[in-house]
Amino acid sequence: MSKIEVKLGEIPEGKNMTFKWRGKPLFIRHRSEKEIAAEEAVDMAELRDPQHDKDRVANPKWIIVIGVCTHLGCVPIANAGDYGGYYCPCHGSHYDASGRIRKGPAPLNLEVPYYEFPDEDTVIIS
Ligand code: FES
Repeated sequence: MSKIEVKLGEIPEGKNMTFKWRGKPLFIRHRSEKEIAAEEAVDMAELRDPQHDKDRVANPKWIIVIGVCTHLGCVPIANAGDYGGYYCPCHGSHYDASGRIRKGPAPLNLEVPYYEFPDEDTVIIS
């Protein structure tokens, strides 16, 4: 199936849930106000693949990324690593809570798929 619909009310604040989409893991994380503020404040000069948090989200409460490490394709672990986002145990890549690469061998940020919010409680990833 190429399209999935997720009910966001099932994902509590601070939690990441993994879904399957087009044969790949898809991460949806409900960020706290503190996490949002921290990610929005990151200096672009610190980033290997510079992208502002605002350009990676449609609603800052939700970070939605494909759970495939951009190094060699392992599945990162959620809520882990030095930057409070995702950690890939294969060769030690650390991603922040915006899915941006911060440390380790991965060259690029976790990919953001196309999605939309038909209403406040629903996201459709297509
Ligand atoms: Fe993730 Fe190598 S595959 S760090």
